[in-house]
Amino acid sequence: MLIILKKRLKMVYELNNLDKLSIYKLMSNLVVPRPIAWVSTISKDKIVNVAPFSYFIPLSSNPPTMLISIGHKKDGSPKDTLKNLRETKICSIAIANTNLTKDMHNTSQPLEFNNNEFKAFNIDTKEIDPNYPPIAKGVKVAFLGKYYKEVDLEGSLTIPVVIKVDKVYVDDELIEDKDKIRLKFSDPIARVGAKYYALGKELNIDE
Ligand SMILES: Cc1cc2nc3c(=O)[nH]c(=O)nc-3n(C[C@H](O)[C@H](O)[C@H](O)COP(=O)(O)O)c2cc1C
Repeated sequence: MLIILKKRLKMVYELNNLDKLSIYKLMSNLVVPRPIAWVSTISKDKIVNVAPFSYFIPLSSNPPTMLISIGHKKDGSPKDTLKNLRETKICSIAIANTNLTKDMHNTSQPLEFNNNEFKAFNIDTKEIDPNYPPIAKGVKVAFLGKYYKEVDLEGSLTIPVVIKVDKVYVDDELIEDKDKIRLKFSDPIARVGAKYYALGKELNIDE
């Protein structure tokens, strides 16, 4: 009897030997699902900017901080979100629900500085607080905060920016109990590689 033993491959990628795109593919397909920060900022001239970022994580609840890694444009200048954060500090980080996927995606297009993507892509906005930039109408969750500090990755063109969160907006629709902070599922968009997903089913460990 012929027994064919299939040799298991132990695939280990040595990142020192890989180009940037390959490393991005490994990271973005394997650290999943990533939440998307739909970040509104404001320029020195008071023009609103909005763009999505999925290298985005909560850092700590105490102090309430989040981290967004923001890159540079092809011409080497900081992306508008980074420029605005450095200059005016304030931002609103919306967690877009799945029905806003197309609008959110559209705002990733690189427009000239001081072009308001909400206006360019006909996205209606709402103001949560006059001291922070507006977010898209229909968004049910947003974190309003300020530029806190940058993490130095020694010459990297990707700049992790720590945001200190001052306020959290939760749409009434999601509130089950305001005081006990019992909230309904917000149906956020998840990023897996370059694709978008809705989150799947809950895993109940008590069953
Ligand atoms: C879902 C999604 C996630 C993204 N995540 C990031 C990210 O984490 N960091 C980044 O620098 N760019 C990211 N981008 C690209 C930016 O959104 C894009 O460069 C945008 O034009 C930046 O806009 P700004 O120059 O107005 O800041 C992402 C794009 C999409 C569609």
